[in-house]
Amino acid sequence: MTSITLLIILNKAKYIRFIPKDIGNLDKLEILDLGNNHLSGDIPFNISTLTLLDLESNYFSGLLPPNLGSGFTNLTKLYLSKNRLTGKIPNIISNASKLVILELGMNKFSGFIPDALTNLTKLIKLDLYGNDLNGFILPTISKLQSLQYLSLSHNRLQGSIIDELCQIRNLSELHLAYNMFLESVPGCLGNLTSLRKLDLSSNKLISHIPSSLWRLKDIMEIDLSSNALSGRIPLEISSLRALILLNLSSNQISGNIPPTIGGLQTLLNLSLAHNKLQGPIPESLGNMISLEFLDLSQNFLSGVIPKFLESLVQLKYINLSYNLLHGEIPDGGPFKSSTAESFMMNEDLCGKPQLQVHPCKKGYKQWSTKKTILIKCLLPFMLVLILVVSCLIFLKRKRDFVSDSTNNDLLILERPIRISYYELLRGTNGFNESNFLGKGSFGSVYKGVLSSGQLVAVKIFHLDLEGAFRSFDAECVAICNLRHRILLRSSVVIQMLILNL
Ligand SMILES: *[C@@H]1O[C@H](CO)[C@@H](O)[C@H](O)[C@H]1NC(C)=O
Ligand SMILES: *[C@@H]1O[C@H](CO)[C@@H](O)[C@H](O)[C@H]1NC(C)=O
Ligand SMILES: *[C@@H]1O[C@H](CO)[C@@H](O)[C@H](O)[C@H]1NC(C)=O
Ligand SMILES: *[C@@H]1O[C@H](CO)[C@@H](O)[C@H](O)[C@H]1NC(C)=O
Repeated sequence: MTSITLLIILNKAKYIRFIPKDIGNLDKLEILDLGNNHLSGDIPFNISTLTLLDLESNYFSGLLPPNLGSGFTNLTKLYLSKNRLTGKIPNIISNASKLVILELGMNKFSGFIPDALTNLTKLIKLDLYGNDLNGFILPTISKLQSLQYLSLSHNRLQGSIIDELCQIRNLSELHLAYNMFLESVPGCLGNLTSLRKLDLSSNKLISHIPSSLWRLKDIMEIDLSSNALSGRIPLEISSLRALILLNLSSNQISGNIPPTIGGLQTLLNLSLAHNKLQGPIPESLGNMISLEFLDLSQNFLSGVIPKFLESLVQLKYINLSYNLLHGEIPDGGPFKSSTAESFMMNEDLCGKPQLQVHPCKKGYKQWSTKKTILIKCLLPFMLVLILVVSCLIFLKRKRDFVSDSTNNDLLILERPIRISYYELLRGTNGFNESNFLGKGSFGSVYKGVLSSGQLVAVKIFHLDLEGAFRSFDAECVAICNLRHRILLRSSVVIQMLILNL
């Protein structure tokens, strides 16, 4: 006897409006895929030869036939999501004992999750998303030892998230969002090393996030948003090396954002909005090079927006509104296209007018404290040095003048001159390339003309080069002893330090 497999695949054939009555007479029919059509009427629930039945996204309504399951002795995959089915999920479904995939999501099933479902021990995927189911998750759920995907999201389930769920060793996705689950996030979830996606959002969970959760090194998505979770974000968060999404928004989480969070280099989506976080935005956030979505709004974050965040080139959404931030809004990288909505209601931010904040004070830059201290201490020092050098030059010239009284070109300087930085800037055309004379090991030399018409050579030391100070001192001594015809007879040599900002 030859075995013929009959399959009917008319998925998305929009013109199909009913299933022929005698389809059940096709006694070799194994696969019937009529998903995404306009089907309504009776569901052919008694074709014992079927292994796959896909009627997803149709207009089937009403109760499931009472013989559901009994006629499906060979069925492994049943897709009935996105219809208008109502009533209870009948116990008899457990007679389809070979079921591996059961999708009943986005219907209007009500009542309890039938305990008989837990007899379907071959189930790998169970999707009851978006129905009207109530009651509790029963401890017998742990009988579903093959289960890898469980979604009970968007129902009206109550009680606690029971520890028995953690006994389903291969569970890879657990979706329990939008229910009314109470109590805490079970700590045993940290034992589910196969877990990749965990969505417990929009429930009534309380207490702190169990520390064991931060040990799930391979987890990719964690959504615990819109609960009443408290506690802090631990330093160990950086061990979640595969994390793509972290949503802890709308909870009661307090404390600082740990700088270690910057270690989450695979993260695309981070939302910590609407919590009680305080302290600064860690600079390390700029290390999260994959980040596309960042929402830190509605917290008590203070300090400045780290300029380092400009390096998040993938960032498409940023929200820092409703915090206590001050200082300049960076304008590079992803900030170029940001709008006022991303920064509103902060303490004292400044920046571009289109961000509806006041303009930053002229010259106000986000210097690191280190640089600010350098400038404050070194600026007066620098001016003094210029003065001293000028003084030395003056004395030297006087000596030269005395010793060489026949030289009429010589400029007579009666007192030390004081030259401002801006005069030098103007005199050298802003240290223009055309005024460039040469480069030494610690700086560059420019030709300049002072407002008096005086020709000068300006040597700039770059402070970022180690030893520039020593070099500056040595140079002063050298110039005092120098007898160079062109330099000393017809011009003034000015040395100055410039801070390389
Ligand atoms: C399947 O059930 C329908 C009614 O739901 C019935 O008319 C039909 O004869 C049954 N077919 C088989 C093969 O049992
Ligand atoms: C369902 O299966 C049980 C045994 O597992 C059997 O006793 C029962 O008769 C079956 N029900 C139907 C309607 O086939
Ligand atoms: C996690 O598993 C270990 C053994 O693998 C066990 O000792 C521990 O109690 C489990 N933790 C929880 C919270 O279930
Ligand atoms: C940022 O968050 C605030 C408050 O949550 C909201 O009002 C605002 O629209 C958000 N901004 C953007 C750009 O979405």
